[in-house]
Amino acid sequence: MALKNYPSIHTKLPGPNAAQYLEREKKYVSPSSTKGYPLVVKSAKGMAVTDVDDNVFLDFTAGVAVCNTGHSHDEVISSISNQADTLIHMSGADFYNPLHIQLAEKLSAICPGSHTKKVFFGNSGAESVEAAFKLARYHTKRPVVIAFYNAFHGRTMGALSLTASKLNQRKHFLPLIPEVIHIPYAYCYRCYYGLAPDNCNMACVTWVREELFKTKVPPEDVAAIFVEIVQGEGGYIVPPKEFHRALYQLTRDYGILYVADEVQSGMGRTGKMFASEHFDIIPDIITVAKGIASGLPLSATVASEKIMDWQPGSHASTFGGNPVSCQAALTTIRLLEEGLIDNAAKQGAYMISELKKLELTYPIIGDVRGLGLMLAVEIVKDRETKAYALEERDSIIQKAFSKGLLLLGCGRSAIRFCPPLILTKNDADIALSIFEECLKE
Ligand SMILES: Cc1ncc(COP(=O)(O)O)c(C=O)c1O
Repeated sequence: MALKNYPSIHTKLPGPNAAQYLEREKKYVSPSSTKGYPLVVKSAKGMAVTDVDDNVFLDFTAGVAVCNTGHSHDEVISSISNQADTLIHMSGADFYNPLHIQLAEKLSAICPGSHTKKVFFGNSGAESVEAAFKLARYHTKRPVVIAFYNAFHGRTMGALSLTASKLNQRKHFLPLIPEVIHIPYAYCYRCYYGLAPDNCNMACVTWVREELFKTKVPPEDVAAIFVEIVQGEGGYIVPPKEFHRALYQLTRDYGILYVADEVQSGMGRTGKMFASEHFDIIPDIITVAKGIASGLPLSATVASEKIMDWQPGSHASTFGGNPVSCQAALTTIRLLEEGLIDNAAKQGAYMISELKKLELTYPIIGDVRGLGLMLAVEIVKDRETKAYALEERDSIIQKAFSKGLLLLGCGRSAIRFCPPLILTKNDADIALSIFEECLKE
């Protein structure tokens, strides 16, 4: 049963127990990650997250777009427990496993395109991207890979080479993988070319075709274009449909692989199983992680049988496709198909219409955007200049935390709303009213 007494904050934050943990963390845990506020989690159920001082928060982060079925869904718990009783690990790198095969068949069926696909299992989003990067080079025998500014594909060396989101993610880690070229994404609110979507002639794709491919990069040397269908960490940026269509056509013209990173946008988050479906795109390779297994570590790199042609020994992982994670994924996919994807579309439509109403009242909101429950508002100092409002954005997130609403930032000055897909209108209204209080303050 999900808790219903949220949000409920009864200590100053951090509370006394949390404060103690934070002291110990400072001493023993790597300081390399960014934590926006001092939330020390004890437990979570449904939409509610309880901290170590028994403060209860309403979660609009889903553990960074992971717990799409809500925290500790009863059916996920029972499938995990049963599987743990039966088999926890035997390594898919060296042995066969019915759950691998079952989940691979299911992913083949639900990923866009009616053709048969093959699946490589890993443990994290970055690993799924690494696998896609290696597969793209292996299959095409071409050296160059194109990715986008503002993209986030992960932090291992290969994935980091594709990432161009924040400087501190790359600082002191250079040199990265050579022959990765970044180009501007269709971030129409801040068009790199200063154009508007209705008359830009997809300049961000045209430039690649007419300039990049005629002056610097021979297209027949390009293995793949890696693209987030909706940019995630970079700001929840939804490009126009024509952007993906034009980009896709470019890849067809030159035999380049279209690699859709759906680590954040996949598994029902946008109101369809994969965001590619909104754009009628059938990617050559799809990377999937985050929401796939309701919080257990699992990732998948999915490609047609023609493309996934690497030889035994070329790529493997000891833990990839752990049976408990695979079982959680099968249950997760069933729950998504049985109603949560539809709910994401429905509640997402409601949330975006309410956020657009707030946009009319509060000039600090420069843009409201999103698909399904992958939503963001961009906070600006001034609507005319669109100056980034980093401090104001951070202060809104802090205020929301102090009132019991968990939010996360994305991009340079946006706030994202990525709740579990079990969201109800009632919970959406609670979150919207706390968010409005924060805007007022
Ligand atoms: C689109 C995308 N790709 C890859 C990753 C990396 O995933 P992980 O942190 O599981 O390595 C992320 C994480 O936020 C992501 O949003």
